[in-house]
Amino acid sequence: MFLAKVLTLFPEAFPGLLGHSVVGRALQQGKWQLAVVNIRDFATDKHRTVDDTPYGGGAGMVLKPEVVAAAIRQAKAGGVAHVVYLGPAGQRFTQAHARRLAALEQPLVLLCGHYEGVDQRVLETEVDEVLSIGDYVLSGGEVAAQVVLDATVRLLPGVLGGDASLHEESFDLIDPETQEPLVEYPHYTRPAVWEGQAVPAVLQGGNHAEIAKWRLAQARARTAALKT
Ligand code: ADE
Repeated sequence: MFLAKVLTLFPEAFPGLLGHSVVGRALQQGKWQLAVVNIRDFATDKHRTVDDTPYGGGAGMVLKPEVVAAAIRQAKAGGVAHVVYLGPAGQRFTQAHARRLAALEQPLVLLCGHYEGVDQRVLETEVDEVLSIGDYVLSGGEVAAQVVLDATVRLLPGVLGGDASLHEESFDLIDPETQEPLVEYPHYTRPAVWEGQAVPAVLQGGNHAEIAKWRLAQARARTAALKT
């Protein structure tokens, strides 16, 4: 069973979007599990301090290593876990990461940073990888953790209805000639004409070979357009 443990200063932000739609239904059905841990519970002083000023000066605060390490170590609970820190300086999160995380056998621990970040030493010793969801700075890792979990959980067995929808989606569509990943082709539903715009004739024709050819051409064109 896929188990995610989220370490955060804002536990009330969870499950958030992960409580809705396919991923939320899967959570209710016990197809995956979510544990949310308040990092502040690992503070040791009476003010429950979790951060301190940065060495070398500068703006913002840094999460204290002993507090974060205690939270991660408890999440590991003597066993093995895969620990991911969400931060803008990480590797860009892609569909390939989602596939790898969905295949994990050990629990996935997601550490959400805040303020200027986390003391580097705890990242060195306790974290397996750093992932960023894009080249912009969020005020915390919670939104990023939800993005990573949404993309990951929907790949778990039994979470999406038909397996076909999994393989024909953006980044699951592979060019049969080049083996390159392609983005999705466009989708249409009724009515056949909406506000003067008609659904492409080939899709209304019922010739499945022609439809497949058209979709592949569209996906290739869209993929090429993204690269310019
Ligand atoms: N925390 C702050 N910014 C982030 C980003 N771009 N990706 C992941 N976590 C973050």
